[in-house]
Amino acid sequence: MATEQAESGAAGFQFQFTKEGEVPVLETPHLFGYILGPWHADDIIAIWNDKSTSRWMADPEGEPCNHEEYLENHSTHPSEVTDGRSFIFYTKEDRVPAAFSAFYDFDTSNSSAETSFCVVPSFRGRGFGTEVNGAAICYAFESTHFQCHSLFSTVVTENAPSVACTERCGYKKIGIRRETHRLEGRWYNEWLFDMLAGDWLAAKAAHPALSGIRILHDI
Ligand SMILES: CC(C)(COP(=O)(O)OP(=O)(O)OC[C@H]1O[C@@H](n2cnc3c(N)ncnc32)[C@H](O)[C@@H]1OP(=O)(O)O)[C@@H](O)C(=O)NCCC(=O)NCCS
Repeated sequence: MATEQAESGAAGFQFQFTKEGEVPVLETPHLFGYILGPWHADDIIAIWNDKSTSRWMADPEGEPCNHEEYLENHSTHPSEVTDGRSFIFYTKEDRVPAAFSAFYDFDTSNSSAETSFCVVPSFRGRGFGTEVNGAAICYAFESTHFQCHSLFSTVVTENAPSVACTERCGYKKIGIRRETHRLEGRWYNEWLFDMLAGDWLAAKAAHPALSGIRILHDI
């Protein structure tokens, strides 16, 4: 498998996109974040396909993610992926899969991207949602490869925990998208949020959970 000289981190560090060589690229107060690779298939598919998660994510009534589709989308060395980064987070304490976050559809014409996140049900309510949403935002704004200028996110207005995490990370409500989420025969409205780098830096300075986020390897 390909290896690449990381542009930050210890001198001589080689980023290996292999299960044996994987290193965390992000650290939050309670979690280590890894770039999704083929070997994370079982853990991440279980996270995405949980019904209490998928009901609030994009395309809630679509087919559940399967291994074939996952491997098609997550087997490329990150140095060749230019439209964003997807992360899986494991607890620092006992390396249990706990959460996912991502920024994606990076648009080079305006340096903007969209973000998304979710937490395994048994780990909710401990601040992990804020940590992993913040981690993806941090990477999008601060990694040398992206240096996003703005980010946006949509959240179903009735998804109160997600609205809380999204605002805490510095996102601002800029409007409502009407009837953009269809679930179980009902249409839901979504908040449209956006943020600039300054909003992220202010949120990071204000909340210990966010100031504890670090990029360990800028890939
Ligand atoms: C949204 C989600 C990631 C939050 O994860 P989490 O680890 O519980 O998040 P946190 O603990 O960091 O924060 C949750 C916040 O929501 C608040 N909250 C929880 N339930 C709430 C409710 N019913 N009403 C209002 N606020 C609520 C909590 O009080 C907390 O805010 P606080 O820290 O100010 O008290 C998680 O619920 C999830 O994965 N949901 C399904 C997928 C999803 O909705 N993803 C986002 C798609 S946009």
